[in-house]
Amino acid sequence: MDWGMKNRLSRIINPGTGRTVMLAVDHGYFLGPTSGLERPQESIVPLLPYADCLMLNRGMLRSAIPAEKAGLPIVLRASGGSSVLKELSNEEITLSMEDAIRLNASGLALSIFVGAEYEKQTLDSLSRLVNEGEKYGIPILAVTAVGKEMGRDVRYLSLASRIAAELGAHVIKTYYCEDFEKLISSCPVPVVIAGGKKLPEPEALELAYNAVQRGAVGVDMGRNIFQSEHPLAMIQAVRAVVHEKATPEQAFDLYNSLKN
Ligand code: 5RP
Repeated sequence: MDWGMKNRLSRIINPGTGRTVMLAVDHGYFLGPTSGLERPQESIVPLLPYADCLMLNRGMLRSAIPAEKAGLPIVLRASGGSSVLKELSNEEITLSMEDAIRLNASGLALSIFVGAEYEKQTLDSLSRLVNEGEKYGIPILAVTAVGKEMGRDVRYLSLASRIAAELGAHVIKTYYCEDFEKLISSCPVPVVIAGGKKLPEPEALELAYNAVQRGAVGVDMGRNIFQSEHPLAMIQAVRAVVHEKATPEQAFDLYNSLKN
């Protein structure tokens, strides 16, 4: 692996702990004005000191993230083209490598939809993005997206994660599931988990805890942080689980003390 690729990966996954808390705020690319992301200057910017890395679209980066936060590593979403009103899997590559470099992305994210109508198109896009990323030393994070009709069990998520790794993805973002350690044991690259729909805080902390205990390098979490009643307290509690080995109970105590 060349130096540029290593350097960028070390900005996504903290080399000190081998872990990462990525804050995912890319939802608007297919969901539009997602609850909690309507005014990112107010809801997201205060959370940034507690994120190792921010995953977002270039539109939000340009319009909402102030210059004084320019040192924060970013993973830019590079796929899109469908909306929640249509077939979700019909995505293409939406970002040029030139713009990714201009914006100094530490990584690029793209969703694959294994088993969906446009499976081949999304796997082809992943392969092309990896080819481009290799040219410039930019790691690619593959998101194993799940459509309405698609499974979320270990068999399906292992299949999608392994395919993404075989096609050259450097990091996989997937969902936590029962027997998650089986997915980890068959995936040769680091795995982060999405949080999914908003859960009560103790459950979201337990999800993060179980994922890192079973081999994930961290979280790329969105709604369970920015839709929390106390997002600042929640992101710090998630950090305690990921970086400081806090149990879900200790992290929830921290959440309660910080929210006050
Ligand atoms: C969809 C995505 C999301 O836009 C997002 O990053 C997921 O984060 P969360 O589920 O934690 O809200 O990747 O596939």
